[in-house]
Formats: sequence, C-alpha cells, structure tokens
Amino acid sequence: MKTPKWLEKATFYQIYPQSFYDSNNDGIGDLNGIKQKLDYIKWIGCNALWINPIFDSPFKDAGYDVRDYYKVAPRYGTNQDLEDLVKAAHEKGIRILLDLVPCHTSDDHEWFKASCRQEENEYTHRYIWTHDAFEKPNNGLQAVGGMKDRNGCYVISYFHSQPSLNYGFYRIDDPRWQKGMDSEEAIKTREAIIDVMRFWLSKGVDGFRVDMAACLVKNDYNDEGTRATWKKIFDVIKKEYPESAFVSEWSVPEWSLKCGFDMDFYLDHGWNGGNGYHHLFRCQEVDKNNHIILKDDSYFKTESNKSMMRFLNEYIRRINETRDDGYYCFLTNNHDMPRTSFFYNKHELEIIYSFMFLMPGVPFLYYGDEIGMKFLNVPTKEGGYYRTGARTPMQWDNSKNLGFSKASKEDIYLPVDEDKDAPTVEKAKKDPNSLLYLFKKLIELRNTYEDLGNVQNFELIDASENRKFVIYKRGNFYFLLNPSVYDEKYYLDGNFEIIHQVGNIDINNRIINKSSFVVLRKL
Ligand code: GLC
Ligand code: CA
Repeated sequence: MKTPKWLEKATFYQIYPQSFYDSNNDGIGDLNGIKQKLDYIKWIGCNALWINPIFDSPFKDAGYDVRDYYKVAPRYGTNQDLEDLVKAAHEKGIRILLDLVPCHTSDDHEWFKASCRQEENEYTHRYIWTHDAFEKPNNGLQAVGGMKDRNGCYVISYFHSQPSLNYGFYRIDDPRWQKGMDSEEAIKTREAIIDVMRFWLSKGVDGFRVDMAACLVKNDYNDEGTRATWKKIFDVIKKEYPESAFVSEWSVPEWSLKCGFDMDFYLDHGWNGGNGYHHLFRCQEVDKNNHIILKDDSYFKTESNKSMMRFLNEYIRRINETRDDGYYCFLTNNHDMPRTSFFYNKHELEIIYSFMFLMPGVPFLYYGDEIGMKFLNVPTKEGGYYRTGARTPMQWDNSKNLGFSKASKEDIYLPVDEDKDAPTVEKAKKDPNSLLYLFKKLIELRNTYEDLGNVQNFELIDASENRKFVIYKRGNFYFLLNPSVYDEKYYLDGNFEIIHQVGNIDINNRIINKSSFVVLRKL
C-alpha cells in the first residue's frame, strides 16, 4: 500500500467547523462559511483541511458522538453543501479530510437503539454488551448497566453517551459475551464502517482523520488486534480509493503507519513520564481546572533546564523505523488541548512554530494559531470542559463578534475574545512581524526546498543531556536550536547562508545567541 503522492506537498489546516465562520448568521459556523474562507486558507499556504466531525449528532461530545454517519448535521448545512465545499476546494487545489469516529457512536444512533432491545435483532452485537446487567467487565473496560431494557451492561469508549462499537476481542476471557475479532459480528461492524468511508470518498472527500484509531479491538495486546483490523479495512478501501489519505489519532507511528495509515499525529501523551511531544511543549503543572500553570519544565520554555534528549531518542527511532511507511506529524495544537499560546510568549512561539513547521512529516496548523489566538476562560460547551477554551470562534476582524457571525452576541456558539488587543486576521495582515507572516514564510520554505518539506529526513549533529542547545540537519540545511538563557558556541565547517532566523546569530564568531533558532544552508 502506497502513501498518496499528494501528501508529499501537503500542509494542513484544521477547522473546528462550529467556530470557524458563520455564513447564515445563526451563530454557528457552517460548511458554506468554510467555503467562503478557502481563499484565506490558500493564501497562508495550506492546501488541505481536516474538518472536525460534521455529522448529525446530539453534540454531547461536540460531534464525536455520531447519530447518523451519512448525514451532515443540519447546523452545518446539507450533504449537498458538503459536496459543493469539496468541489470548490478542489478547484483551488485544496484537499479535504473529514473526521471519522469508528470506535463508538452516539447513544442516540439507530444502531444503538436497536441494540438496546430485549429481543435479538440485526444490531444486537453491533455494540459490546456483557451478558448480565449486574455484571460489569473486570478487564479495565468501562460499562454502563441498568439504563436499558436489554439485560446487560454496554461498554463505552469515552463519555456514557458513546457506546463502543463491536470490533471483537483480541483475547477472549469471557466467551458468554465477548466475540472474536474475526467473528461474524466483528466483520459486520468492520463492513459498516467501510461503507461509511466509501460513501464520503465517493462524494469526492479525500480521506479521514480517524478518531481514537488505537481502540477498535478490546482486550488487545500491543494494539495487535486493532492493527490487524485496520489492515483489513485498508486492504479494501485503499484498493478502491488509492489516493485517499488517513491520519490517525494514535501517536505510535511504528504501529499506525505499518497497518496502513498514511500519517500519524505526534500528540501530547503525559503518562509513563511523558512522550517526546510532552517534554518539548507540555510539561506544565496545572491546577485541577487546567488553568493555572504552577511550573513549566518544557524544553521550549526558555528558563527550563530540560534537555532535548528524551524527545530525540524517541523521535529518531520512530522516524528511522517508519521512513518509508508514511508521516509522523507535528500539530501546532488541536481541539483537545489548551492552545500553545497559553504557555508561551510571542518570541517562544516563533521558535516553537518555526521548529514544528520545518520538521519532517505533514504539518498541521490549528485554526487561529496562525494569529496567536488565546486559550480563553469560557464555560464548558458540548462536552468540551477544559478543552472548550481552545474551541472559541475564529477572529477575523474588528466587526461584530470579531467577524465570526452577525448573530447577536448571546447567540453565538462560544464567546469571542473580548480583549481589546484580541488578535484578528485583519490586524495580523497589517503587521509584517505577525505570526501569520511567519507561518506563510515557513510554508513557503517547505515548498521551495525539498529537504525542508515533508520527507522524513532528520540527522542529529550535536546534542547532550546537560545542555539545551542542539544542532541537527535536513539535507543541506543545518538547524541551530537554542531555546535557553545562554549564548552558545557552535562548530560547523564550511560557508553558510541564513535561511531563517528567530533571535540572533554571530556567524563570524560562530555564536548562537540565547533564545534563538537559526536555519543555515550550506553553500
Ligand atoms: C478524540 C477526540 C476528542 C473526543 C474523543 C472521543 O480524542 O479528539 O475530541 O472527545 O476522541 O471521541
Ligand atoms: Ca451558521
């Protein structure tokens, strides 16, 4: 299975549709709104979109609780509006990935309602139920009992409103209710989800971001059952749609890319001491509302003493293992975490975004990060809780609701930033030093020099446990990364020209200043 060629030159923009642009003034962003902003997205240099779930839903988890996989949620428009958006985007050279939620549905989905019935029917085993309403699974799965007529507890993926679809069990320890991963019941679920993919791909959609991709099969060992299941799914769908692209919410590329995903996200995983991404950007101690930073020990925090080694050891191994399989991708942020801008000042952000957007893999820009939108302290919405502050309306200009919607202030999806200095696209366009122009430049660099593009080349030149200063190389380009409070001497032979710079460098004396990041091209 080959990764589609177009990914070699892809740069993604992630859109949270309810908060992007409201075209009909009902207070909620919509598909036509996205269509009207395609030129802006293209102007930044992005040529692909990932749109968060747009399917019919009771929105108890902002659309990650799908009620009908085949229908666009009326608040976003119609199926026809989606087809129109895809067509308009394609005409501008922009691809579109939708968000597929294969692990669970809403408890309001017709399949689930049928599955809740006492009498056996087609959907009885579409979800995972224990054999007894009084008996919960004892293997770490979460289940809900006593809510439905059917005598059993149903397993959930996330919130109570998100019952798990049945892709079977890798290890069966209770045959009274667990089905195998190749059982007839599991195969039916697989086929149902393939059918959903096929439906949207046949309408011109270019692929999917896949939610909780690691969690299909239960009682799994090293995700082996889930990986085998994805292989079977991709065997079918990639044959029919070889140009389609899939990016996983998994963050274990040596597994996800080898079972058929084209891209995997490098996500913040805080457990087991934290993964590389966590140590680079997200080592903050926060209070229980995730709001006050008590301490920040991230590599990119100028004052921290963290070395880059933890990241480098993990990253280099993964890149080497998956070089030919696909892309391990950096994202500026997503809809599940506080915005990066919450933790860093503008100079630090310039270093961070320059680093991220000049790394291998397909880059993902979260809407609003390009203008430094803030993580807002707003009340929870649709199961967002602490995540809600990263989901507020896009800030376009200084008009009503910062240009997001002409609805009244009380009716918009979430409040906009009320600060008089709230960043907007309009302001950013007038300021040559804005983050917006930084992103534009970084994307241009990726497009100009193949070595700086999506190709997975990365060579470490110099790094150590007791220093933050790091030198690495991509093709003919040398990266001097020094997010620390010390100036550092560096040793590189040859003549160089500066291609990109945040902070300062003294090329003659070979000194990179504190809090600086410079990219050199060898002449
Ligand atoms: C993923 C989504 C998140 C959602 C969850 C359950 O982590 O990114 O927003 O709540 O899955 O579907
Ligand atoms: Ca609307």
